[in-house]
Amino acid sequence: MLGYLAAAATCLAAVVLVGWDPWLLADLPGVSYLFSPPEGTATPKEAPERLLSITELGRYIGTEGSPGLYLALLGEVFDVQRGHKHYGPGGSYSFFAGRDASRAYVTGDFTETGLADDVSGLSPLEMVNVKNWLSFYHKNYVYIGKLIGRYYDESGRATEALKVADEVAEAGLKQQAKSEEEKKQFPPCNSEWTSSTGTRVWCSKQSGGVERDWVGVPRKLYKPGAKNHRCVCVRTTGPPTGHLEPAEHSDRGDLDEPTLQEYEGCHALYEWCVLKG
Ligand code: HEM
Repeated sequence: MLGYLAAAATCLAAVVLVGWDPWLLADLPGVSYLFSPPEGTATPKEAPERLLSITELGRYIGTEGSPGLYLALLGEVFDVQRGHKHYGPGGSYSFFAGRDASRAYVTGDFTETGLADDVSGLSPLEMVNVKNWLSFYHKNYVYIGKLIGRYYDESGRATEALKVADEVAEAGLKQQAKSEEEKKQFPPCNSEWTSSTGTRVWCSKQSGGVERDWVGVPRKLYKPGAKNHRCVCVRTTGPPTGHLEPAEHSDRGDLDEPTLQEYEGCHALYEWCVLKG
């Protein structure tokens, strides 16, 4: 059984920051799919969508005498028999069986209280994560239908709670797209610490995981209103980002961006810097 502490400590970092384990990332489809299940994988034509009550879903826990092994996420029910080693009795994630525990997919709180369906109050990026899990289930398991409750009413219509959750997730996608753009303009620096040298930061054509044809120089980037800064690589030639007319500008790339500061004691145009203090 995966311990709550271990999961809570690492899953937020793994899931929210990097978007989940590589095996899941590899499976995850494009972003648009998050909001519309792919054709063919969702509802098999021959199996009409079912509407299940919470009590009915609760029977599908894969034990002897139980009708099967189901789980729900944001009110969508999946047959996870294929993954019985995870969800079946004795499996590391058996607590997900027979219920909708949407919230726990991002909190990693697998206690009875934590295994809740209510996602209200989750951040936009956390909601994107819940949606990623939904895509994962659509892709890897058999879609059964809707759970009558928080997210779908007795007629299978989306509730206000689902609409709100979708809006939060959409805001999260926009936030993600924006930070991807920012990362292209200001890719993170490489950094290392050794007891002899201390912290050294440097730029390369792949630093921050951003492939580019320029290296850049390290600078401190301050977000408006934030006290902390992070080390980013800044382009030193060509027009500033967003300005298409090179002739009107000095050939200094983004060096004059006001949110940037030089590292004290380092050459302004060196690709590396040893941090003082
Ligand atoms: C928010 C925290 C976490 C959640 C919600 C979560 C959820 C899940 C789920 C639902 C599966 C089954 C996927 C499937 O149907 O194929 C799974 C598999 C797995 N998880 Fe987690 N997990 C979390 C944290 C972690 C952490 C922290 C680790 C490792 C330290 C981990 C390691 C694994 C591994 C190795 C598998 C695959 C097991 C196998 O294929 O036998 N998980 N996880």
